[in-house]
Amino acid sequence: MKPVVLVTRKLPDAVEDRLRRDYSPMLNPNDALYTPEQIIERAQGADAILPCHTEKFGAEVIARLPERVRVIANFSVGYDHVDTAAAKARGLIVTNTPEVLSDATAELTLMLMLGAARRASEGERLVRTRAWKDWSPSFMVGTQLTGKRLGILGFGRVGRVVAQRARGFDMQIHYNDVQRLPPELEQGAVFHPTPAELMPHCDFLALHCVASPQTIKLLNAALIARLPDGAIVVNASRGVVVDDDALIAALKSGKLSAAGLDVYNNEPDIHPGYRELPNAFLMPHIGSATKETRIAMGFRALDNLDAVFAGKEPRDRVA
Ligand code: DGY
Repeated sequence: MKPVVLVTRKLPDAVEDRLRRDYSPMLNPNDALYTPEQIIERAQGADAILPCHTEKFGAEVIARLPERVRVIANFSVGYDHVDTAAAKARGLIVTNTPEVLSDATAELTLMLMLGAARRASEGERLVRTRAWKDWSPSFMVGTQLTGKRLGILGFGRVGRVVAQRARGFDMQIHYNDVQRLPPELEQGAVFHPTPAELMPHCDFLALHCVASPQTIKLLNAALIARLPDGAIVVNASRGVVVDDDALIAALKSGKLSAAGLDVYNNEPDIHPGYRELPNAFLMPHIGSATKETRIAMGFRALDNLDAVFAGKEPRDRVA
């Protein structure tokens, strides 16, 4: 008997083909967003769940999953949507999909930097609404990336790929993480022991830290005040890392010249203030949204499932 896998969202064809080959999947062809009640209901009879970050597994949901469910194999690198302590306490295995989305997310981060610095939202709106009337030396003037200082808060896999790509723009890399990395990973990047010490060195600041109790609202008014005037902030990690009111105030006052955001608190019902800001370049959480990466994420989640059902330790176990 093949293990039964509850798959909460529509996945790429290649991933669903592999699921059908090796498992008895309960697929979601219409890509409906399940409520917690629907997940609990559908999980009856499942041996595993393959969810995305759009499904929340708080302690209450985990407690109501049938005993038969052995593993939550996430189709995501972030796993802040799962209460890992509750999963551990119940003996439920939880896995994620690291590494395979670092390139796509780093590319998106560079796009956020360029889009914010070169006023891409404003420019596109002008063209689409026929409001573009003229060219002049003072028209749509933005900021150049080349030669600037890029501060990276969280120098993990994604942060380091961003650094690598940004070196192509001759950017000087500064970073903060919980500890200094070895030289082969730093590649010349300058370590700052605290986020506060990193801030004055950031013409651009890219957030790449994981969501945790320590990083909630990490980018607050006090930290923003330490950035150089006119700095640009981008976020492709998790929305909770930002204090929205503080960021919006700094974008309004001109303390920050622009921001590029792909992730938000309370997605998709984001803080309405962002929509009013001409200097915010806004994307709808698409960091990993490339054909190549979405297939790789699915295969990585399946590799983890395969290991669990073969009685082995899954490579990406987080609980
Ligand atoms: C991730 O993998 O964490 C991305 O944010 C998509 O869920």
